[in-house]
Amino acid sequence: MTQDEAKRLVARRAVQFVEDGMAVGLGTGTTSRMFIEELGAKVKAAGLKIRCVASSDASHDLAKSLGMDVTTLAELPTLDVYIDGADEVAPGLALIKGGGGALLREKIVASSAKRFIVVADSTKVVEHLGKFPLPVEVVKMALPKVQTKLTELGLKPQLRKYPDGSIYLTDENNYILDCHVGMITDPVKTAADVRAIIGVVEHGLFLHMAALALIAGDDGVLELQP
Ligand code: A5P
Repeated sequence: MTQDEAKRLVARRAVQFVEDGMAVGLGTGTTSRMFIEELGAKVKAAGLKIRCVASSDASHDLAKSLGMDVTTLAELPTLDVYIDGADEVAPGLALIKGGGGALLREKIVASSAKRFIVVADSTKVVEHLGKFPLPVEVVKMALPKVQTKLTELGLKPQLRKYPDGSIYLTDENNYILDCHVGMITDPVKTAADVRAIIGVVEHGLFLHMAALALIAGDDGVLELQP
């Protein structure tokens, strides 16, 4: 099974966790994109009545284009479920997220949901977090200061850029520093150290947030609990 086939498989499975009348958080990234497409198809075909809040402009626009009812957290402050991908899934459902740059809104939407379900292909499952660079969202003005502090912590920050060399900007108009840590031995400490730096808006460690992970691979879809 290719990685894309696994993403499609898990996207289809995740749709089964959405029931009529639910308030649903929509994630960001390639797996979430497939989930939104599958959910949009069910809304159309089965007349599923749901309201959604998206974790990025891209997911918002996609869901709208599929005719889904997409609103804001101001209108819908509590969500029944949030379904989103991850860059790494470690034991306890400790996650790195933000490869797609939406970590801030993703964390806000995830924390507004009664249940956060991760959807991923089996390549995302790891023993230790940190091989995937840890994204840290930073207020523009604070960039040099935060860069220095992260370097002092040994986290090897690198400013995210677009392929054309221009600096990447998040939906909230901030910069991202991708930290090439290698292995994060104590995610709780790393999260606290990074959060304590003035100018950091959010980091991509999602700890004790996910309730369930659906992991697709050659054996089908496995369900992992924290
Ligand atoms: C977006 O900012 C990310 O957190 C994604 O959820 C994560 O990068 C997984 O993306 P893919 O589904 O594209 O691998």
